[in-house]
Amino acid sequence: MGRVFVSCPLLGDAVERLEREHRVTVGQEHVGVGGEAFGRAARELDGIVSLLTDRIDAALLDAVPALRIVANVAVGVDNVDVAACRARGVVVTNTPGVLTEATADLAFGLLLAAARRIAEGDRLVRSGRFPGWTPSFLLGQRVHGATLGLVGFGRIGQAMARRARGFGMHVLVCTRGGVLAPELERATGVRSLPLDELLEGSDFVSLHCPLTPETHHLLDGARLARMKRGAVLVNTARGPCVDEAALASALADGRLAAAGLDVFEDEPHVLPALRALDSVVLAPHIGSADRPAREAMARIAADNVLAVLAGRPAVTPVATA
Ligand code: NAP
Ligand code: GLV
Repeated sequence: MGRVFVSCPLLGDAVERLEREHRVTVGQEHVGVGGEAFGRAARELDGIVSLLTDRIDAALLDAVPALRIVANVAVGVDNVDVAACRARGVVVTNTPGVLTEATADLAFGLLLAAARRIAEGDRLVRSGRFPGWTPSFLLGQRVHGATLGLVGFGRIGQAMARRARGFGMHVLVCTRGGVLAPELERATGVRSLPLDELLEGSDFVSLHCPLTPETHHLLDGARLARMKRGAVLVNTARGPCVDEAALASALADGRLAAAGLDVFEDEPHVLPALRALDSVVLAPHIGSADRPAREAMARIAADNVLAVLAGRPAVTPVATA
């Protein structure tokens, strides 16, 4: 029997399944590996089920000498020092695939809401400021037939492209490895371009890359300035992929028409300059927040811990960089 720390209660039967085979401590929401329960258990732990809000770094790993697995309940692992885990022989796993459609749904929802000023209109109606229909009231950006640029063309990027096709959009993509093979472009109905050209040619830009040293502030002031005047930015990837202060000023001076954001540089803090803008739709990091996705994420994390602590290979290991 091993010893496992689970950051907080999870959906479904993941914790029960772990408890059948291991001694499990469940932490508190918003506390996770930062709390006393973790500190008391740390020296004996074989496994940690972490959330994306838990920072798993070298200092933490030093306090957990027997650790064999960190099972992150997220597809992104930017909260985990994967190299430090590897150096200590600790397996890192994530939850790819099961949240792809949920996250693409939310990203497309933000695109529509930002383009067509839905949240702004909702605020107007609620506050009794709907003046009645006029031809020019709350005009937004046209979605149908527009060009969508996808930065990152993995699982979620491809799911966005499928949704965009239903809206008659033209889809440009930028990948880490340069242009896609012509067969893949034909099969997916997209055209791949270098990032700067994608930014210059897109009416909508949506980020679907992981947060890495390479993608930190990938959209900085200079890159945002390359976007078309009146373009719309959607970010469901990670907050630090965008320089938020530069984004706020591009929106405030009207160069960008709108933004739909699910992620922020310093969550749960959101830059006041962004909160002040009517042209930004703000979501509280709910990309994967539908029940089937969240249950499956918990299930996969438990599967990974059960496998590794039983001496089997992890189900969804994070690939070596
Ligand atoms: P994925 O399948 O691994 O796709 C990510 C893609 O980004 C890969 O194709 C990768 O290319 C590409 N990429 C990496 N660096 C890039 C760069 N510098 N420029 C352009 N493309 C780059 O991952 P996914 O499942 O689609 O998830 C993507 C990210 O979404 C996650 O890492 C996470 O941060 C975020 N996410 C957010 C939510 C939410 O709740 N808002 C939910 C789920 C995921 P290579 O394959 O060549 O590396
Ligand atoms: C959510 O943000 C995830 O990476 O799963």
